[in-house]
Amino acid sequence: MVKLKAAILISGRGSNMRALVAACNEPGFPAEVVLVISNNPDSSGLEYAKEAGLTSHVIDQKGFPKRAEFDAVLDSVLCDHKVELVCLAGFMRILSEELVNKWRDRIINIHPSLLPSFKGLNTHTRVLQSGVSFSGCTIHFVRPEMDDGPVIVQAAVPVHSGDTVENLDARVLAAEHRAYPLALRLIAEGRVRVVEETVKIDGAIAPADAMLNPIEES
Ligand code: GRF
Repeated sequence: MVKLKAAILISGRGSNMRALVAACNEPGFPAEVVLVISNNPDSSGLEYAKEAGLTSHVIDQKGFPKRAEFDAVLDSVLCDHKVELVCLAGFMRILSEELVNKWRDRIINIHPSLLPSFKGLNTHTRVLQSGVSFSGCTIHFVRPEMDDGPVIVQAAVPVHSGDTVENLDARVLAAEHRAYPLALRLIAEGRVRVVEETVKIDGAIAPADAMLNPIEES
Protein backbone atom coordinates (compact mmCIF):
# COMPACT_ATOMS: atom_id res chain seq x y z
CA MET A 1 0.00 0.00 0.00
CA VAL A 2 1.30 3.47 -0.87
CA LYS A 3 0.95 5.52 2.30
CA LEU A 4 0.33 9.24 2.58
CA LYS A 5 3.47 10.96 3.86
CA ALA A 6 2.52 13.11 6.86
CA ALA A 7 4.54 15.57 8.91
CA ILE A 8 3.48 16.50 12.44
CA LEU A 9 4.31 19.98 13.75
CA ILE A 10 4.44 20.43 17.52
CA SER A 11 5.50 22.99 20.10
CA GLY A 12 4.88 21.18 23.39
CA ARG A 13 4.00 17.83 24.94
CA GLY A 14 2.74 16.27 21.71
CA SER A 15 -0.04 14.01 22.98
CA ASN A 16 -1.90 14.39 19.67
CA MET A 17 1.33 13.53 17.86
CA ARG A 18 1.47 10.31 19.88
CA ALA A 19 -2.12 9.48 18.96
CA LEU A 20 -1.34 10.02 15.28
CA VAL A 21 1.86 7.97 15.46
CA ALA A 22 0.01 5.15 17.25
CA ALA A 23 -2.64 5.15 14.53
CA CYS A 24 0.00 5.12 11.78
CA ASN A 25 1.62 2.09 13.45
CA GLU A 26 -1.59 0.08 13.14
CA PRO A 27 -1.44 -2.48 10.33
CA GLY A 28 -3.08 -1.18 7.17
CA PHE A 29 -3.29 2.46 8.27
CA PRO A 30 -3.03 4.51 5.06
CA ALA A 31 -0.60 7.21 6.32
CA GLU A 32 2.92 7.28 7.71
CA VAL A 33 4.69 9.90 9.80
CA VAL A 34 7.82 10.82 7.86
CA LEU A 35 8.78 13.85 9.92
CA VAL A 36 8.17 15.62 13.23
CA ILE A 37 9.05 19.31 13.39
CA SER A 38 9.13 21.52 16.46
CA ASN A 39 9.64 25.26 16.61
CA ASN A 40 10.65 24.82 20.26
CA PRO A 41 13.85 22.89 21.06
CA ASP A 42 12.57 22.22 24.60
CA SER A 43 9.24 20.64 23.62
CA SER A 44 8.84 17.36 25.48
CA GLY A 45 7.18 15.84 22.43
CA LEU A 46 10.56 15.86 20.69
CA GLU A 47 11.92 13.36 23.22
CA TYR A 48 9.10 10.99 22.41
CA ALA A 49 9.68 11.42 18.67
CA LYS A 50 13.35 10.50 19.11
CA GLU A 51 12.54 7.50 21.34
CA ALA A 52 10.00 6.34 18.76
CA GLY A 53 12.70 6.47 16.08
CA LEU A 54 10.95 9.19 14.08
CA THR A 55 12.84 11.69 11.96
CA SER A 56 12.65 14.97 13.84
CA HIS A 57 13.76 18.45 13.05
CA VAL A 58 13.93 21.61 15.19
CA ILE A 59 13.42 24.98 13.57
CA ASP A 60 14.09 27.19 16.56
CA GLN A 61 11.93 30.25 16.10
CA LYS A 62 14.37 32.32 18.15
CA GLY A 63 16.72 32.17 15.18
CA PHE A 64 14.14 33.63 12.82
CA PRO A 65 12.80 37.05 13.80
CA LYS A 66 11.11 37.37 10.41
CA ARG A 67 8.09 35.10 9.81
CA ALA A 68 8.92 34.75 6.11
CA GLU A 69 12.39 33.37 6.90
CA PHE A 70 11.04 30.80 9.35
CA ASP A 71 8.37 29.74 6.88
CA ALA A 72 10.88 29.44 4.02
CA VAL A 73 12.97 27.00 6.08
CA LEU A 74 9.83 25.11 7.12
CA ASP A 75 8.74 24.86 3.50
CA SER A 76 12.11 23.55 2.34
CA VAL A 77 12.29 20.93 5.12
CA LEU A 78 8.79 19.72 4.24
CA CYS A 79 9.70 19.54 0.56
CA ASP A 80 13.01 17.76 1.29
CA HIS A 81 11.06 15.00 3.04
CA LYS A 82 8.42 14.82 0.29
CA VAL A 83 5.67 15.58 2.80
CA GLU A 84 2.16 15.37 1.37
CA LEU A 85 0.13 16.45 4.43
CA VAL A 86 1.08 18.68 7.36
CA CYS A 87 -0.67 17.99 10.68
CA LEU A 88 -0.46 20.84 13.18
CA ALA A 89 -0.70 19.35 16.66
CA GLY A 90 -0.30 21.99 19.33
CA PHE A 91 1.94 24.03 17.02
CA MET A 92 1.87 27.45 18.67
CA ARG A 93 2.89 29.58 15.76
CA ILE A 94 0.92 31.35 13.07
CA LEU A 95 1.94 30.47 9.53
CA SER A 96 2.21 33.13 6.86
CA GLU A 97 -0.48 33.58 4.24
CA GLU A 98 2.08 32.67 1.55
CA LEU A 99 2.92 29.33 3.15
CA VAL A 100 -0.72 28.49 3.90
CA ASN A 101 -1.72 29.28 0.33
CA LYS A 102 1.16 27.27 -1.13
CA TRP A 103 0.06 24.27 0.98
CA ARG A 104 -3.67 24.89 0.56
CA ASP A 105 -5.75 21.85 1.59
CA ARG A 106 -2.54 20.09 2.62
CA ILE A 107 -2.28 21.55 6.15
CA ILE A 108 -4.70 20.50 8.88
CA ASN A 109 -5.01 21.67 12.48
CA ILE A 110 -6.71 20.55 15.67
CA HIS A 111 -8.42 23.08 17.92
CA PRO A 112 -9.97 22.28 21.32
CA SER A 113 -13.46 23.66 20.68
CA LEU A 114 -16.38 23.22 18.33
CA LEU A 115 -15.30 25.76 15.71
CA PRO A 116 -16.23 28.37 14.68
CA SER A 117 -17.00 28.95 18.38
CA PHE A 118 -14.15 29.77 20.74
CA LYS A 119 -11.31 30.44 18.34
CA GLY A 120 -8.00 31.42 19.90
CA LEU A 121 -6.28 30.74 23.21
CA ASN A 122 -7.63 29.88 26.70
CA THR A 123 -10.49 28.03 25.07
CA HIS A 124 -11.68 25.99 28.03
CA THR A 125 -11.75 29.00 30.37
CA ARG A 126 -13.99 30.87 27.94
CA VAL A 127 -16.18 27.81 27.34
CA LEU A 128 -16.79 27.44 31.08
CA GLN A 129 -17.51 31.15 31.49
CA SER A 130 -20.02 31.05 28.63
CA GLY A 131 -22.21 28.37 30.20
CA VAL A 132 -22.56 26.20 27.07
CA SER A 133 -23.52 22.55 27.61
CA PHE A 134 -21.18 21.07 25.02
CA SER A 135 -17.62 21.66 23.91
CA GLY A 136 -15.33 19.47 21.87
CA CYS A 137 -12.63 19.59 19.27
CA THR A 138 -12.34 20.30 15.56
CA ILE A 139 -9.92 19.15 12.89
CA HIS A 140 -9.98 21.56 9.97
CA PHE A 141 -8.05 22.58 6.88
CA VAL A 142 -5.88 25.59 7.61
CA ARG A 143 -6.55 29.00 6.11
CA PRO A 144 -4.59 32.22 6.69
CA GLU A 145 -6.94 33.39 9.45
CA MET A 146 -6.32 31.66 12.78
CA ASP A 147 -8.59 28.65 13.57
CA ASP A 148 -10.44 29.16 10.31
CA GLY A 149 -11.05 26.72 7.47
CA PRO A 150 -13.27 23.83 6.33
CA VAL A 151 -14.18 21.40 9.13
CA ILE A 152 -13.15 17.78 8.56
CA VAL A 153 -14.07 16.05 11.85
CA GLN A 154 -15.59 17.30 15.09
CA ALA A 155 -16.12 15.51 18.40
CA ALA A 156 -18.59 16.89 20.93
CA VAL A 157 -18.12 16.38 24.65
CA PRO A 158 -20.53 17.42 27.42
CA VAL A 159 -19.59 20.17 29.84
CA HIS A 160 -20.36 19.00 33.38
CA SER A 161 -21.62 21.33 36.08
CA GLY A 162 -18.69 21.99 38.41
CA ASP A 163 -16.14 21.33 35.65
CA THR A 164 -12.71 22.88 36.03
CA VAL A 165 -10.47 23.83 33.13
CA GLU A 166 -8.40 20.73 33.94
CA ASN A 167 -11.40 18.36 33.87
CA LEU A 168 -12.72 19.79 30.66
CA ASP A 169 -9.26 19.78 29.07
CA ALA A 170 -8.84 16.08 29.89
CA ARG A 171 -12.26 15.21 28.47
CA VAL A 172 -11.67 17.17 25.28
CA LEU A 173 -8.14 15.83 24.90
CA ALA A 174 -9.40 12.23 25.04
CA ALA A 175 -11.78 13.13 22.21
CA GLU A 176 -8.94 14.80 20.28
CA HIS A 177 -6.95 11.59 20.40
CA ARG A 178 -9.83 9.76 18.69
CA ALA A 179 -10.81 12.47 16.24
CA TYR A 180 -7.39 13.40 14.84
CA PRO A 181 -6.46 9.87 13.69
CA LEU A 182 -9.91 9.59 12.10
CA ALA A 183 -9.36 12.80 10.12
CA LEU A 184 -5.91 11.65 9.01
CA ARG A 185 -7.27 8.28 7.90
CA LEU A 186 -10.14 9.81 5.92
CA ILE A 187 -7.75 12.14 4.09
CA ALA A 188 -5.19 9.39 3.47
CA GLU A 189 -7.93 7.19 2.03
CA GLY A 190 -8.64 9.95 -0.50
CA ARG A 191 -12.20 10.38 0.74
CA VAL A 192 -12.06 14.07 1.70
CA ARG A 193 -12.80 16.88 -0.77
CA VAL A 194 -13.17 20.60 -0.24
CA VAL A 195 -16.14 21.90 -2.22
CA GLU A 196 -16.91 25.62 -1.96
CA GLU A 197 -15.10 25.78 1.37
CA THR A 198 -16.98 22.92 2.98
CA VAL A 199 -15.75 19.37 3.34
CA LYS A 200 -17.42 16.42 1.63
CA ILE A 201 -16.43 12.94 2.81
CA ASP A 202 -17.19 9.94 0.60
CA GLY A 203 -19.03 7.22 2.51
CA ALA A 204 -19.27 9.16 5.76
CA ILE A 205 -22.14 8.35 8.11
CA ALA A 206 -23.38 10.82 10.72
CA PRO A 207 -24.85 9.71 14.07
CA ALA A 208 -28.63 9.58 14.01
CA ASP A 209 -29.51 11.00 17.39
CA ALA A 210 -29.21 14.18 19.40
CA MET A 211 -27.10 14.09 22.55
CA LEU A 212 -28.82 15.90 25.43
CA ASN A 213 -27.14 17.62 28.33
CA PRO A 214 -28.37 17.38 31.06
CA ILE A 215 -30.10 14.02 31.06
CA GLU A 216 -32.65 12.83 33.62
CA GLU A 217 -31.46 10.35 36.21
CA SER A 218 -32.70 6.88 35.24
C1 GRF B 1 -4.48 20.44 22.06
O1 GRF B 1 -5.50 20.73 22.98
C2 GRF B 1 -4.83 20.97 20.70
O2 GRF B 1 -6.20 20.96 20.44
C3 GRF B 1 -4.33 22.39 20.76
O3 GRF B 1 -3.16 22.34 21.52
C4 GRF B 1 -3.20 21.19 22.38
C5 GRF B 1 -1.98 20.41 22.08
O4 GRF B 1 -1.81 19.33 22.95
N1 GRF B 1 -4.13 22.92 19.44
P1 GRF B 1 -0.73 18.22 22.66
O5 GRF B 1 0.62 18.92 22.54
O6 GRF B 1 -1.12 17.52 21.41
O7 GRF B 1 -0.76 17.32 23.86
